Amino acid sequence: MAFDDVIIIGSGIAALTVAERLAMDKNVIIFTKSNKTASNSFQAQGGVAAAVHPDDHWEDHLHDTLIAGCQHSDLENLQMLIQNGSRHLYELTRKGLEFDLNSDGDWNLGREGGHLKRRILHAGGDATGKALITFMLKRVKNKITIVEDEMVIDLIVQDQQCMGVTTKNTAGEVIDHYAGSTILATGGCGEIFSYTSNDSTVTGDGYAMAYRAGVQLTDMEFVQFHPTLLFDGKQALGLVSEAVRGEGAFLVNQDGHLIMDGVHELKDLAPRDIVARAIFNERNAYLNISNVKNFSSRFPTIHKMCVDNGIDVGTNLLPITPGAHFMIGGIKADRLGQTSLGGLYAVGETACTGVHGANRIASNSLLEGIVFGNMTAEAILSQKNRTTKQGSYYVKKRSITMDLPTKETIKRKMMRNVGVVRNEHGLEGMKAWLEQYDFSHIDLSRLSVEKIEVVNMLTTAWLITTSALMRKESRGTHFRSDYPESSGLETREEILRLKEIKLLV
Ligand code: SIN
Repeated sequence: MAFDDVIIIGSGIAALTVAERLAMDKNVIIFTKSNKTASNSFQAQGGVAAAVHPDDHWEDHLHDTLIAGCQHSDLENLQMLIQNGSRHLYELTRKGLEFDLNSDGDWNLGREGGHLKRRILHAGGDATGKALITFMLKRVKNKITIVEDEMVIDLIVQDQQCMGVTTKNTAGEVIDHYAGSTILATGGCGEIFSYTSNDSTVTGDGYAMAYRAGVQLTDMEFVQFHPTLLFDGKQALGLVSEAVRGEGAFLVNQDGHLIMDGVHELKDLAPRDIVARAIFNERNAYLNISNVKNFSSRFPTIHKMCVDNGIDVGTNLLPITPGAHFMIGGIKADRLGQTSLGGLYAVGETACTGVHGANRIASNSLLEGIVFGNMTAEAILSQKNRTTKQGSYYVKKRSITMDLPTKETIKRKMMRNVGVVRNEHGLEGMKAWLEQYDFSHIDLSRLSVEKIEVVNMLTTAWLITTSALMRKESRGTHFRSDYPESSGLETREEILRLKEIKLLV
């Protein structure tokens, strides 16, 4: 049994931002079930969006985010995110983080889907996440404790307060750790779908733990499918960043027909949900990169991925398919990361503060981790020290053991029934299949880490499926072929009018 000021679960950008900010004043411990670079943040290619160009303004960034979000955004939290974004990026660069520069020595700003202006900062070409995480890991080195290969399996809850976590280590020992504040920064759940851009460790653990502890979740039907994952006809091989389309690439089908022609005014740089659906309706889809200058040096990670997988870049046609990329819903949190459970915070992809609406615009996710990570840390710093007595806490006892499905079965069924396009029949069938497993009452302490992940995948899949059944409309990333219309205001003009009424300036 151990006690720390702050326990953080996860090692992506949100986790490391909180940790860095708290490191001087608090005793911080990070638990990660794999190694510290196994995260979606580390793999992020595109970059970080911010209105840093003299011709840009945070209000323009906010407009574009609001439009992409399909009138489902929390405007106050969104304004907080966008207005504070540039300040935090300047602060990171003052500390030594280097974004890519153009030949004039200015930030080399890229463009991605939904953004009307070039405002994406990137590093290492298409290795922004790697640069950012490597930088943050250096910043926290020897200042906090990072425990790798130890999986948090549950939250410890008493009297409506989170007291800490229970972990399982590689030796199979189950250990309780207590803390004044516990922070879920576990990322999303891309691994519950067969095609995904996510790291293989991203199995929805945070959502499942929160659900088991009775913590409020929201908007779980909104799963973003990225339009362009490299595809070999059988499996998705990894992300081809939207930034490639920002540099001139365009989508074609097997006949060379331009897929986005006549679909949206922004064509290949339309918001992601629109592009993903257009591709979903095609038999085969390709990204034509013939217009992209210096493809191999501007996008070294993607170029290497193509070469490693035997995709001939010389043809200028990269075969692609949509795949699960980002969970927009999640654990309901305010802008300070506070969840519905005292002592428990959620930040980054695992949290839902409403900033992404029903469809996240490109390159706002690292930004979210940075801005809300700082705000969560400040909230914790401003609290009086919370202590908690060790021992004898009530942890809900679960006794059931049962046969579980394989990860592959869950992934295949979710992709087919709860993927880019959904309908009542498929969702009902999926729900019934999931409910044959009593995943809420399984005794996790007796299971291997792999099996605990399966339980978490089943739980998260059920949360998404039941939420998708309840939303009887199409909005952003949630498309129902049986309810193709959205309710409410939809046009760009209408959404902007709404923004004018409510903006807080
Ligand atoms: C991309 O590079 O296309 C993904 C960036 C993001 O998820 O915002």
